[in-house]
Amino acid sequence: MSRRPLIAGNWKMNGLRADAKALAGEIATLSKAQSDAAFDLLVCPPFTVMETVGAAIEHSDVFLGAQTCHTAESGAHTGDISPVMLKDAGCTHVIVGHSERRTDHAESDADVQAQAITAHAQDLIAIICVGETEAERESGQALQVVREQILGSVPAGATSENTVIAYEPVWAIGTGKVATPDDVQEIHADIRNTLADKLGQDTADGMRILYGGSMKPGNAKELLALADVDGGLIGGAALKSEDFWAIAQSCPSL
Ligand code: PGA
Repeated sequence: MSRRPLIAGNWKMNGLRADAKALAGEIATLSKAQSDAAFDLLVCPPFTVMETVGAAIEHSDVFLGAQTCHTAESGAHTGDISPVMLKDAGCTHVIVGHSERRTDHAESDADVQAQAITAHAQDLIAIICVGETEAERESGQALQVVREQILGSVPAGATSENTVIAYEPVWAIGTGKVATPDDVQEIHADIRNTLADKLGQDTADGMRILYGGSMKPGNAKELLALADVDGGLIGGAALKSEDFWAIAQSCPSL
């Protein structure tokens, strides 16, 4: 089963308008120069620069995504942004359940699943994040924790078209520590088995599972070559166009 890799940049809380415009413009230019790319590119900037970034990538194949969304379509939710608004702003994707959201905003698996369902209702692709903490890995619970997150966060209506999974070990995010290729492949294969139990084998076989956590140009090739790794969710290295592009160039050809 050939799955087209997705290289997604999670800009987190970084980027003022001028920087965001420049970074998005550079990525769009690189993408336009390679019309036969064997990967999809996505940038997920902060809400405040969504329009700026959308304009900068408008005539390219680079997709626009958000970093979270609310579970309602509109209403009295001060400070929140709905999937309807994201769609209106030109987004095609939204990250849900990133570990920083789970920690900073106490988002549970049930919250993440509800966000994905609302996103799907707007035809947005939900990138559902899962991953264990360092303590959970050290106590041998990584597989079990991630399995439970998948079962709790992925909606029953998820398909390989409307959903992408991102496995991000919490201890590898922004730390420079990367999971070993063997550990990454073990977890990704287990995620696919869990998805098969929940959604059926065909859906599981078609669904992209990204790795995230200190992915850089120097380690991307080895990680992206793994059988069940179908791209990356990139934080720090997504803020430099040459690093982001170098990671994309590390995808195996289709
Ligand atoms: P990192 O972040 O690449 O800076 O480790 C990845 C993420 O949190 O999505």
